[in-house]
Amino acid sequence: MKKIHYNLISGMVFLFLLLPQFSPAQNKIEPRDIEEKMQWFSDAKLGIFIHTGIYAVKGIGESWSFHNKHISHADYMKQLSGFTLKNYNPAFWADLIKESGARYAVITTKHHDGVAMYDTKLNNRSIVKATPAKRDMIQPFYDELRKRNIKCGAYFSLIDWSDNNYPGFLKDSSRYKIENDYVRWNNFRGFFQGQIKEIAQNLKPDLWWFDGDWEHNAEEWESQKVRNIILASNPKAIINGRLQGWGDYDTPEQNFPVSRPKYNWWELCMTTNESWGYQQDDTIWKTPYEVITIFVDAVSNGGNLLLDMGPKADGTIPEEQILVLKELGAWNKKNGEAIFNTVGGIPQGHFYGPTTLSKDSTCLYLFLHGKTSGTIMLKGLVNKIEGITVLGTNAKLNFKVVGKISWSSVPGLVYIDVPEYVNDKYVTVLKLKLDKPIRLYRGHGGFY
Ligand code: GLC
Repeated sequence: MKKIHYNLISGMVFLFLLLPQFSPAQNKIEPRDIEEKMQWFSDAKLGIFIHTGIYAVKGIGESWSFHNKHISHADYMKQLSGFTLKNYNPAFWADLIKESGARYAVITTKHHDGVAMYDTKLNNRSIVKATPAKRDMIQPFYDELRKRNIKCGAYFSLIDWSDNNYPGFLKDSSRYKIENDYVRWNNFRGFFQGQIKEIAQNLKPDLWWFDGDWEHNAEEWESQKVRNIILASNPKAIINGRLQGWGDYDTPEQNFPVSRPKYNWWELCMTTNESWGYQQDDTIWKTPYEVITIFVDAVSNGGNLLLDMGPKADGTIPEEQILVLKELGAWNKKNGEAIFNTVGGIPQGHFYGPTTLSKDSTCLYLFLHGKTSGTIMLKGLVNKIEGITVLGTNAKLNFKVVGKISWSSVPGLVYIDVPEYVNDKYVTVLKLKLDKPIRLYRGHGGFY
């Protein structure tokens, strides 16, 4: 098979691989419904992750700093008294997220430190009851997001190292072993599942972003039950893959795929500097160019980017973070046609750079990193090109088909002239309008 409709076939293969996990018997969800409920997520491409927590007070590692004994648990918890949110402006946050082009946001409702960022009724460890902020920060944020048509995600840590009934605590030590005290473990389960119910019923997230599933298996967490609790209050809720096999999509973290991931839906979560939460000493900010090229790479490989920000304890967002989001937004405004509502691009080998396709695959988008000008080349395109334009400009580009042999069905090479004046500040996008849905030649050359 030399010519393939790559996306269709790979999509079918991926769906097939996923079927057993989502069989109706387990989750009461038909595969067709999964496709349908995942649609907004596949189209969204960009989400903003927000790590807000008391760790921003001192600017230390979120939860891990006490777990790894860089600070005592007692001193870590003293940060509660410094969490003021006195300049918290959820409308400004939501505006910034909208401006970036993101279509969903995921905020920490509770990290591994067990401090709830919403008004939990199940203990006193919340910013409402234990900090000078004295308020829930999630509901007002969701209200602002929803006004702007941005989907609302809830990060929730299954691990709760501060809860006395949770077995794990500091590294190299635990409070107890589950097999020795099922009653205690059951108490914890009732508690964390109760918090999930509170969030599901009161805040109604569109997406759940679990974390920390690695500390226990699916049976111990009761992952299936957790999934059902969520779907009972919102059958359309999307659940990330950190639920020991009971989620909907994969979440590679910080590290970038080189070959295309074999999942139908995936999302790269990544920090903008090197920390999830606010840390004043971390000045290793990624540049807008770096963030945009990483974003394009994820989308061209069929994934999303969940780009993190870490607000300060008073609720303000660091300037460097704002700059990155604004630049990303300006680029998206100009080039978004090649990103949002598209599907992952053609397989590697045809073009030396990222690509995406319109859903009907009659438009192929080529992404040129940095200041690429001169003549670029595309291999193995069977279709006729009706025209080539540069997004965000009026430019129409010249191209030439080279080496097409009249008696062979193997397509020629396409050489495209890219003049310097069409270059984007970060990544230039060419749009190739094709005569029909894309067809590619994938052979080894030769006669056919
Ligand atoms: C890791 C870390 C956690 C962070 C998360 C974000 O799982 O444990 O601190 O919030 O990644 O993806």
